[in-house]
Amino acid sequence: MDKIVIHGGRPLNGEVAVSGAKNAALPILVSSLLTSGPNRYDNVPRLNDIESIKLLLTHLGAEVQTDGHTVRIDAGGLCEAEAPYDLVRKMRASVLVLGPLVARLGRARVSLPGGCAIGARPINLHLKGLSLMGAQIDIQHGYVEASVDRLRGADIYLDVASVTGTENLMMAAVLADGVTVLRNAAREPEVAALADTLNRMGARITGAGTSVITITGVDALNPVETAIIPDRIEAGTFMVAAALTGGEITVSGCEPAHLGAVIHKLKLTGSRVTVRGKDITVQGGRRIQSVDIKTLPYPGFPTDMQAQFMVLMSVAGGLSIISETIFENRFIHVSELRRMGADITVSGNAAMVKGIEGLSGAPVMASDLRASACLVLAGLVARGVTEVNRVYHLDRGYEAMEKKFARLGAVIERVPA
Ligand code: EPU
Repeated sequence: MDKIVIHGGRPLNGEVAVSGAKNAALPILVSSLLTSGPNRYDNVPRLNDIESIKLLLTHLGAEVQTDGHTVRIDAGGLCEAEAPYDLVRKMRASVLVLGPLVARLGRARVSLPGGCAIGARPINLHLKGLSLMGAQIDIQHGYVEASVDRLRGADIYLDVASVTGTENLMMAAVLADGVTVLRNAAREPEVAALADTLNRMGARITGAGTSVITITGVDALNPVETAIIPDRIEAGTFMVAAALTGGEITVSGCEPAHLGAVIHKLKLTGSRVTVRGKDITVQGGRRIQSVDIKTLPYPGFPTDMQAQFMVLMSVAGGLSIISETIFENRFIHVSELRRMGADITVSGNAAMVKGIEGLSGAPVMASDLRASACLVLAGLVARGVTEVNRVYHLDRGYEAMEKKFARLGAVIERVPA
């Protein structure tokens, strides 16, 4: 298995272009299932998770073509309503096909995704919503079986503002009979980007980006041409790299409005953050100040940036409390950071991080996508050599990360197995 080898301790400087957002691209590519014509998507990141969703869409009968960062999908030949275990277990976001399949075919059989390293991650709210829209839902042999003549609009309250739950139900509701209201909907930019794409296809959605989304069902949708929004988590990861190494990095082509909480916290750590149009420049301060972090649904501080911020706090000048309120087990990177010398104690959903002088390089093991980004960042600031193993996690969600860091002056390379 490939590993990333880093000789740390150098400030990173220069400009890096952000890629398209994985978590926007996944539901948007899936929304092609709602039409029977040629869709074109630009700025699609080249990632393993995108390969997984393309494989699933092909399995369902869609025609998928890729040319660089452009993906064309025509689901005119949609014939299969089953998302098998082998495809879903590789990537839980595969469950996003459930809503569109039921909306278009009136039936779906989708493997239950199960838990993952960061938490149990149930999909009860996806199922509750579909059931309120009239679908018959059964769990059989590890699969969700859903069937209905035609979904009908419903008033749905989500107990938790689930991102993919909101997306799944929105995609189901666009072809339903009547009006659906999603209350306590997720407000993440990726949800708004999906709604924007669906509206361009002829859907009637209002309120996306707020916690009440209203969807008036239509009889059919048209194919679309659209571009994927920039990845706010990839951008945030590079911003932390500048703060961490005391360098100056301009992240270009991002959407600063999506990074409000991250920018705010970075400024409090002593970095200078300058926003010019679609570019954000972060200049690391002399001394990193400790700040407390609490992960929350958007527009709160993103859980997908928690691990990266923890590295920054581990070399800051004081004590920081990092509370994780979204996932119940998202501190797996702590034990690896400790092996690099970090002083971190976990109690329940809070981690107490006492800043130390510096980390020291070590061989470490990535456990999930954002944990692997955190370990790469740790390697960039550590003295000596860090080897990050199990980098397939990184390849799921960061496009050519080691190449982007190398261009910023890092001594980093991928060593093939
Ligand atoms: N939840 C339920 N029931 C449900 C759905 C969710 O209890 O039916 C709970 C979850 O267990 C969790 C909380 O609600 O405790 C929030 O989970 P959510 O459903 O919002 O997460 P998700 O949709 O599965 C997406 C991103 C994640 C990101 C989270 C939170 C995609 C494909 N994934 O997951 O991204 O961490 O929202 O912002 O959009 C990543 O990119 O590394 C990643 C994990």
